Amino acid sequence: MSHPARAIANPSAEPASAPYGAARAAVMSPQGFDAAMREISSWPGYAPTPLLSLDGLAKNLGIGGLHYKDERGRFGLGSFKALGGAYAVANVLRDKVMRARGLSGVTSSELLSGVYRDVVGAATVTCATDGNHGRSVAWGAQLFGCRCVIYVHETVSQGRRDAIARYGAQVLEVKGNYDDAVRHAATTAAAEGWTVVSDTSYPGYRDIPLDVMHGYGVMAGEIEHQLQGAPAPTHVIVQAGVGAMAAAICASFWMHWRQDRPRFVVVEPGLADCIYRSVEQGQRVTVHGSLETVMAGLACGEVSELAWEILQGGVNACVAVDDAYALDAMRRLARPLAGDPPVVAGETGGAGLAALLAAMDHTDIRRTLALDANSRVMIMGSEGDTDPVIYREIVGADAAGVLG
Ligand SMILES: Cc1ncc(COP(=O)(O)O)c(C=O)c1O
Repeated sequence: MSHPARAIANPSAEPASAPYGAARAAVMSPQGFDAAMREISSWPGYAPTPLLSLDGLAKNLGIGGLHYKDERGRFGLGSFKALGGAYAVANVLRDKVMRARGLSGVTSSELLSGVYRDVVGAATVTCATDGNHGRSVAWGAQLFGCRCVIYVHETVSQGRRDAIARYGAQVLEVKGNYDDAVRHAATTAAAEGWTVVSDTSYPGYRDIPLDVMHGYGVMAGEIEHQLQGAPAPTHVIVQAGVGAMAAAICASFWMHWRQDRPRFVVVEPGLADCIYRSVEQGQRVTVHGSLETVMAGLACGEVSELAWEILQGGVNACVAVDDAYALDAMRRLARPLAGDPPVVAGETGGAGLAALLAAMDHTDIRRTLALDANSRVMIMGSEGDTDPVIYREIVGADAAGVLG
């Protein structure tokens, strides 16, 4: 059965031949990606996440191939977000130690060893979250030894709040939506002398969200390595909240594959389609209202300033989908077609497949995305069952049951 969905081609998309260029490299740079990869791959527990091939599903969808980057196992946190917030926390603390001690460099292993406990222990990091970013910041704070206060809006599930608190953070509720929580975190931090480790940037606040984005680039770097020797995907579909993950992947693939880079498609929930609307109007647009969606990680009304600087010309098309497609995607990934592995994808994690399912039902979307039988599509499994209770309710089995 068909559900509401729509797509738009980006009239400001750069042609395939356009170089990544100096202006964009001044935002997200190869050096930034390399530094994040060096640092994060040195942390205890680092391992590249799997890149799965879902050939049975690809055939069923009428496309040539389908890759799924499965972030469920990332550092035991359940989502790709482990890469960004924790990396930014490490850099904030490194910076504080260097300033306090007049040093020109501090390594992660020095931070982890506790030799700078006095400086690090006096710091507090904070942020607003719909779940996964806060979990990453809390984990980073615990790993490197500082205090952490995380703000959640009203609709963040208890399971996601508990998961953050398990890393020793104080979790506090703010009335309103995600954007209200972002503003509250910023005001409180200014009053208390805390550091905001946000995944979204706004005028005058760029360095920390840039670290977050460079951290996400690890995922893209792994994919580029995993596909070495194979042709580039023709399409990549990335789910977006504030667009930080989308921008990181777009920038990294652009630098890596240049004119052969995949067509870049952003997928968002119908009521939280801030990138879709920004692309439509050629400028950053804020979406107001409840932003209600089952795809909790995507319930954002404003695209990050930094992300927009990459996405404005880097996105080829946007898709906005009804929640029904997200639920369908989770269930299809959990009960694979013959030959495909079972996949545990949370409500936000299956959004790339949600866009493909919408494209199957709506020929205009398929046309806008330029999908056909030769398309080799990459989708980002950005999270696993980050709230296992909700996952079981939707899929009818828990992760062990699906994978077993
Ligand atoms: C699992 C998951 N996927 C995707 C996103 C979207 O990332 P961004 O806000 O950087 O667009 C989020 C954001 O919280 C998320 O939790």
